Amino acid sequence: MKILVFGSLNIDRRYIVDHFVQPGETLSSLDVGTFSGGKGLNQAIACKKAGSDVYMAGKIGKDGAFLLAELKDADVSTKHVFIDENMMSGHAIIQVDTNGQNCIITYGGTNRAITKEEIDEVLADFSAGDIILMQNEINSMEYIIEQAHAKGMLVALNPSPIDDALMNSDLSKVTYFIMNEVEAAKISGKADVTEAFDVLRAKYPQSKIVITMGGDGSMFFDGEKIWRHGIYKVKAVDTTAAGDTFTGYFLNGLLEGLQPLEIMSQAAKASAIAVSQPGAADSIPTKDVVLATQLELK
Ligand code: RIB
Repeated sequence: MKILVFGSLNIDRRYIVDHFVQPGETLSSLDVGTFSGGKGLNQAIACKKAGSDVYMAGKIGKDGAFLLAELKDADVSTKHVFIDENMMSGHAIIQVDTNGQNCIITYGGTNRAITKEEIDEVLADFSAGDIILMQNEINSMEYIIEQAHAKGMLVALNPSPIDDALMNSDLSKVTYFIMNEVEAAKISGKADVTEAFDVLRAKYPQSKIVITMGGDGSMFFDGEKIWRHGIYKVKAVDTTAAGDTFTGYFLNGLLEGLQPLEIMSQAAKASAIAVSQPGAADSIPTKDVVLATQLELK
């Protein structure tokens, strides 16, 4: 079974800061680095490292050549990544504080310039039973979901970041939602995560839903029952791509047919390992590392 990740590829400029910059403040950073990122690219690499057969689709500018190299190194197919020589790739400005927490600004660039013809061309290579994994960092998300669903592909969505277009989209064709508690609150209109879960289950009765809750772990509705799992203890260095790592490992676990708690445990452990390393895509561990690493639940 093939996973098509149709999503963003970003050049991440990461600044280490003592604290996040405040309104009116000019702040000197302690360190700077450039990494491969974008929720699409990160999740494609996470799915691949977890063990899936992965195809990336998206668009970069000529400044994004190293993003393609990163995908190729990870053995993700890049046949469906378009290049626009005249545009800037998407990029992200990421502040990481000394506790490893981050805040991110993105600029869409080529991620937001994908044409309907390119979308149709990509989807022509996929068929019923294949999975499409999306986030909300590219244009035409709703069109892609509609077309993929019409072909019989299963749709997985990490609805991040939330914006007005996403809030106004028809998400009823999504089979798997993987989101964090902030996204769950925005989509459901309920701040309390249990209430948010109930609203989402009522609104999308055909869907399986995962909500990650930071230090409180994750909840997973598998269509019949709600499962809960905690997080693993690590020293946080950089939380960038923690959610992407969780998403990739979770989806792979579902497709492998693992038991719910095993899926949640693998996703939580992979994400904990990612948090203990700097960078986005570079911090995502392989399955061997995840299986060999012993961590304590918090
Ligand atoms: O989820 C982390 C990612 O969000 C970063 O790699 C950044 O590019 C933004 O897309």
